[in-house]
Amino acid sequence: MTESAPKPVLRIRDLVVEFKTEMGVIRALDKISFEVMAGESLGIVGESGCGKSVTALSILKLIPSPPGRIAEGSIELDGIEVVSQPEHEMRKVRGALASMIFQEPMTALNPVFTIGNQMVEVIRVHQKVSKTKAKKQAIEMLRTVNIESPEKRIDQYPHELSGGMRQRVMIAMALSCSPKLLIADEPTTALDVTVQAQVMEEIKRLQQEMNMGLILITHDLGVIAESCSRVLVMYCGKIIEMAETGELYKNPRHPYTRGLLDSIPRVRKEKLKTLPTIKGMVPDLADLPKGCRFADRCPKVEDRCRTEEPPLEDTEGGGKVACFHPN
Ligand SMILES: Nc1ncnc2c1ncn2[C@@H]1O[C@H](COP(=O)(O)OP(=O)(O)OP(=O)(O)O)[C@@H](O)[C@H]1O
Ligand code: SF4
Ligand SMILES: [Mg+2]
Repeated sequence: MTESAPKPVLRIRDLVVEFKTEMGVIRALDKISFEVMAGESLGIVGESGCGKSVTALSILKLIPSPPGRIAEGSIELDGIEVVSQPEHEMRKVRGALASMIFQEPMTALNPVFTIGNQMVEVIRVHQKVSKTKAKKQAIEMLRTVNIESPEKRIDQYPHELSGGMRQRVMIAMALSCSPKLLIADEPTTALDVTVQAQVMEEIKRLQQEMNMGLILITHDLGVIAESCSRVLVMYCGKIIEMAETGELYKNPRHPYTRGLLDSIPRVRKEKLKTLPTIKGMVPDLADLPKGCRFADRCPKVEDRCRTEEPPLEDTEGGGKVACFHPN
């Protein structure tokens, strides 16, 4: 088998996203840069409010505006710059180049239309096919995500399906135009534990079969260990560590990553959104400290950390870390 060199399906450079709030303008993302290769799965972790969803929404230009806006930087999807793309062009990009599945499928599905109606509509935005042909494709897609009797299911309404089934329908819709990049933002958090694993299996299998890039956003480092080849750790709108999954788990360089890893069992059991083993609070984006954003919680803090912001630099392990005293 010959393999062609992987190329990035997503390339983000120095992205800044701002929101206007009562406290002034805050930077939800502050100059983040990363890439995702075709067929690669990248996990994004970090505590609530660190900018994971804002990153995901930016890629599809779905940041609510106002109050938000992409203030600086570049986002290339399969070589196409999306930041400057007008909304009518973005409609073609969404679904075809990148699509997204969310935590709660009920908010993304319309309760008054059947599954079939909604899938047919999505397909026909991108392909010039008849309704009958689109419905056939939709049924095939439901079969692909392992929904039984798809011919019957397609005429049902969202409320007639279980949570796990609804999430499968969302996956089917997201994949109906064979996107190059799939973004899954906490795709299993709202599901029963038993169904979670099945849905994750499904996402992984389809990603490999379709050779898509995958961005998986989750609080659960355990899920990332099983599903992603590379991990990106965010803190207060910054990327603070990036590494191959095995390397990150074996040898976390940033004190924050170390704290996240130490708290895995408790997070899994109690489904906490905050991480109890890392003492202290995440600073307010409207009132960030000078220097390192993690300084107030860091066991290794020293004077320099309070005046200078550590840059994201290469590690010996092939990753990157933003810390003056990495492990
Ligand atoms: N609509 C909005 N209006 C104002 N500020 C916002 C808005 N959406 C996001 N933000 C800001 O951006 C920050 C990052 O939000 P984001 O939703 O990306 O967090 P997250 O990492 O996905 O958190 P969670 O794990 O809870 O989903 C928030 O802390 C908030 O300050
Ligand atoms: S730069 Fe300093 S405060 Fe920040 S994580 Fe590293 S050691 Fe801790
Ligand atoms: Mg989020």
